[in-house]
Amino acid sequence: MQLFDVYPLNDITIVKGEGSYVWDDKGQRYLDMYGGHAVISIGHAHPMYVQAITEQLNKIGFYSNSVKIPLQAELAKQLGEVSGKEDYKLFLCNSGAEANENAIKLASFHTGRSKIVAFSKAFHGRTSLAVAATDNKTIVAPVNSTDNVTFLPFNDVAALEQHFAQHGKDTAAVIVESIQGVGGINMASANFLQAIRTLCDEHGAVCIADEVQCGYGRSGSFFAFDHAGVAADIYTMAKGMGNGFPVGGIVIAPHIKASHGMLGTTFGGNHLACAAAIAVLDVMQSERLMKHAVEIGKYLMDELRSMDGIHNVRGRGLMIGFDVADEYKTLRSHMLHQHHVFTGVAKPSVIRLLPALNLTKEQADEYLTVMRRSLKELAPAEQVAAV
Ligand SMILES: Cc1ncc(COP(=O)(O)O)c(C=O)c1O
Repeated sequence: MQLFDVYPLNDITIVKGEGSYVWDDKGQRYLDMYGGHAVISIGHAHPMYVQAITEQLNKIGFYSNSVKIPLQAELAKQLGEVSGKEDYKLFLCNSGAEANENAIKLASFHTGRSKIVAFSKAFHGRTSLAVAATDNKTIVAPVNSTDNVTFLPFNDVAALEQHFAQHGKDTAAVIVESIQGVGGINMASANFLQAIRTLCDEHGAVCIADEVQCGYGRSGSFFAFDHAGVAADIYTMAKGMGNGFPVGGIVIAPHIKASHGMLGTTFGGNHLACAAAIAVLDVMQSERLMKHAVEIGKYLMDELRSMDGIHNVRGRGLMIGFDVADEYKTLRSHMLHQHHVFTGVAKPSVIRLLPALNLTKEQADEYLTVMRRSLKELAPAEQVAAV
């Protein structure tokens, strides 16, 4: 049997990782400024994380949600403390799409309504409701297309107000990424997020913050939505939550009530996933990683802003993007293949940096050196002659 060929692959086989470095099967070391797509939050093979999962595996890896799993309650307690959402409730699942799927479904159950508002360039995942709320027609199968989702322009308060004035009583939820990831590191304005909050309150709709990529400390606060000074009703999480162990979840405001059978999943909240997620929170706290992300992120952005050939450096904490001028469109693959640095991309010409939250200053400098060198190596001939 062969693999179903859906991923365009780099010809690289990663066999080992440590902190913000990974190694291939030929022993070549790479600096990981991509964090395996924003997943690696506390660094590859963090010793506390490896120990916690190993110890848990030696006790029990899985039993179903038909019995009490105290690790789930422990994770919920710790999440409440770290995020400041102590009165919210936690539902555990396995991925970002599944988290958004459950958030939208829950909003619909809660309101008895079926209409959802999403935004231009949004990415919420590939399962049925999540992909229907994703602004990319090429990944929406005919069976997923629905008129229950309306796309409005991102950061356009007037369009949102107009939509609510006409359709507010049918609207179950608004789903928003406070920093759009796949869409190209687009920052929601505080004003826009506050307007979503106000309109949801006025019309009885549920405000869903998709924190799958921008959340879990990456922006410097636990949830990126909270930079706007208002709270969402449901926060969805995955990627950084398990540092590579597949775990997702939704954090639910107290006014949204649970009933037996309303949501569910076989693997969600299993013992191993909880052990991984608790270890991530332990490390985030003991290494003060949210504060560190702010400091290193600011340093990276300040340095990047001084470079020619790239524009519009933006982001928050360690979720950073910039536009690459046309002449440098091979920058990302050049850095990967010539200088062994992984970065992320968002089409057509945006580079995304999503490193582990404990990226060191030395590693940030190593990346900045490679950037300067690569921009020089790729500079068009006439620019080099003019210097
Ligand atoms: C903002 C956002 N939401 C949802 C998802 C989907 O997550 P998953 O791939 O774990 O289903 C992603 C994945 O990139 C994402 O960036």
